[in-house]
Amino acid sequence: MENGPLYQRKVLLGVSGSIAAYKSAFLVRELIKWGAEVQVVMTTAAKDFITPLTLSTLSTRPVYSTFLHEKDEKYGVWNNHVDLGLWADLMIIAPASSNTLSKLVTGACDDLLSAVYMSAKCPVYVAPAMDLDMYKNEATSSNLEELTARGVTVIPAEHGELASGLIGQGRMAEPEDICQFISAQLLEQLPLYGKNVLINAGPTHEHIDPVRYLGNNSTGQMGVALAHAARSLGATVTLVLGPTHYPLDLSGLHVVRVVSAKEMLTAMQEYYSSSVLTICTAAVSDFVPKTAADKKLKKTTMKGSMSIDLEETPDILATLGQTKRIDQRLIGFALETNDGVGYAKDKLRTKNADAIVLNTLSSTTGFESNTNAVEVFFQDGEQHSLPLTVKSELGEQLLHRVLDKFQWV
Ligand code: C5P
Repeated sequence: MENGPLYQRKVLLGVSGSIAAYKSAFLVRELIKWGAEVQVVMTTAAKDFITPLTLSTLSTRPVYSTFLHEKDEKYGVWNNHVDLGLWADLMIIAPASSNTLSKLVTGACDDLLSAVYMSAKCPVYVAPAMDLDMYKNEATSSNLEELTARGVTVIPAEHGELASGLIGQGRMAEPEDICQFISAQLLEQLPLYGKNVLINAGPTHEHIDPVRYLGNNSTGQMGVALAHAARSLGATVTLVLGPTHYPLDLSGLHVVRVVSAKEMLTAMQEYYSSSVLTICTAAVSDFVPKTAADKKLKKTTMKGSMSIDLEETPDILATLGQTKRIDQRLIGFALETNDGVGYAKDKLRTKNADAIVLNTLSSTTGFESNTNAVEVFFQDGEQHSLPLTVKSELGEQLLHRVLDKFQWV
């Protein structure tokens, strides 16, 4: 699931000895479906329930279970628990047996899994699985309480039929539910969770006649990069996109397609009041023909030359700036060929923006390029340079800088 909170997350899946270990195979598949990278570490007891081969095939990575790499035991190749612990963005121990839970609590690390847990700095989830009486046992409940108090998230066992034939609480949560549970929790922790972000991008086309227009070479890449950055921080993103033909990844975004500056303004106004952050990256045409011919203009009528009467398009950023509320933040872009800093500072004031992002036009920056370098100017005079990098990366850096400034992180 691209752009979900588990997308491209490095997940360390610890599998311990419980009959529910067979469900780990489904959990690996489910995590991979959500876009996670999965590294399995299993206890020796877990191998009695599911083979390392099954889990390594599904995760497409070797499965580790001992401190010494089994294949290379005689050469003494070390499975480094510290490296594994640091590699992970999150650790899930599922199934977590009663034995493994108690080791997590006491800090006993006589196997790779518990040693990795001790080294891990990332959030840890445990999904217990055991027979109902073991689950009810005070030792288990106090271990779970203790782990919760230390910041480990317990994904409670479910009620149902158990391997023993008994019915009660002890079944490991279903792999789909584990992924849903973790995703929902990760999502809620993101700084833009529950917030709407509005971004415009691309050029506008102002029609002269049915086949000709005034436009520019904007691809929309910068806006889309910011949109994905905002989405990966939990925002619901509406992207108002002008007529670009550049192949853009628009997955996970609410996209409103427009052609002209006037249409772009209407679309932006529709979503503006419900958005806490609005970023105007679009290269909006400054002029529109006063009238667009309804039939193609013919060369024969021009007598060698012709002129087109133009009028100004609405300034979208400035229009939105006029009704900006105290809880809203508005950011504009400026693409300049000369005197950029002066123009950028001027736009902060005239358009009532909270920040202006200045980029210049060169073979590696601005339109058509997939890299960019920018300078950000804030209302209070603070200024930051973000050096040349690919636009997707720059989008993330820029958004972090902005959120940091607005104290939204
Ligand atoms: O005034 P200038 O066009 O240089 O300002 C650039 C900024 O203003 C960009 O954020 C652009 O999206 C926005 N803009 C606009 N409507 C226009 C022209 C520019 O929103 N008609």
